[in-house]
Amino acid sequence: MKLWWLPLTLMIALMLNSVARAAGPDLAAAKDNYMTFCVKCHGPTGQGNGPAAATLHTKPRNYTDCALMAKIPDATLFKAIKNGGASVGLSPEMPAWSQAFDDQEIQGLVAFVRSFCHK
Ligand code: HEC
Repeated sequence: MKLWWLPLTLMIALMLNSVARAAGPDLAAAKDNYMTFCVKCHGPTGQGNGPAAATLHTKPRNYTDCALMAKIPDATLFKAIKNGGASVGLSPEMPAWSQAFDDQEIQGLVAFVRSFCHK
């Protein structure tokens, strides 16, 4: 039997797999980052009720509210995370994270924030 194509097929499959992973946001890493850096204000369930939220002048939004979240484009969420709340006209108490995360990690955080809305 001729099996010369088998290693070739495997190689192509592996290549496609790594391309797919590089293109999509890494949700597991985003969750880790969120639970480390964002949870104190935004809360573990994304409802804006983290332990530090009580000290804020503007409470973070409720990310489980799908109707509300549908009105906010990804680009706005991205910019808010990267450049801080004030950059999109929101509370300056939302810090800028451009020093902490690269664009891909911020995209992951946007996807993770979106995942709080379950339809
Ligand atoms: C010190 C508290 C605090 C921390 C820490 C914090 N945020 Fe925020 N965040 C806020 C506040 C306050 C707002 C603005 C709410 C408003 O003005 O409606 C906000 C707004 C946002 C928005 C804009 C979306 C919107 O329209 O409400 C996103 C997205 C966001 N935060 C994500 C994150 C992520 C991701 C992290 C962690 C990397 C994080 N935040 C860390 C307090 C915080």
